[in-house]
Amino acid sequence: MKKMSEFYELLAQQAQALIDGVVYPIANYANLSALLYQSLTEINWAGFYLIEDGKLVLGPFQGKPACIEIDIGKGVCGTAVERDATIVVKNVHSFPGHIACDGASMSEIVIPMHRNGEIIGVLDIDSPVESRFTEEDKLGLEEIVRIIEKGQEV
Ligand code: SME
Repeated sequence: MKKMSEFYELLAQQAQALIDGVVYPIANYANLSALLYQSLTEINWAGFYLIEDGKLVLGPFQGKPACIEIDIGKGVCGTAVERDATIVVKNVHSFPGHIACDGASMSEIVIPMHRNGEIIGVLDIDSPVESRFTEEDKLGLEEIVRIIEKGQEV
């Protein structure tokens, strides 16, 4: 397995410290979206969509107001849920069905999130820069999601 960069090692430690001992998932999503938004450069949206009633519903985030509901299989977020896999989009304009919440967004990463093995939502980060998210970002952000998942296991 590839080693995480120092930047993401530190970010993972900060994420862990923020959620340690906190039993309120919404509070954790809110703090983590703030941590990611403040720490990552060249991004314009960072937050969570959570599965409710069989669709994705907007959760805590930082950035411009965003669409509230996304059907499973729709947009980058709904496609990531359907595939149960991380999706990195270099240019959102070439992703069929991409849902534009902020017209400035150019690239995007969406990572599915699980509780006890079951998919419960996604972490979504947008950037105004094309190809903003590298393999290093993917590995580092997947680790952040694993930290969230571990904190929610029952
Ligand atoms: N672009 C996403 C919609 C959510 S916003 O980016 C915040 C999508 O296509 O699913």
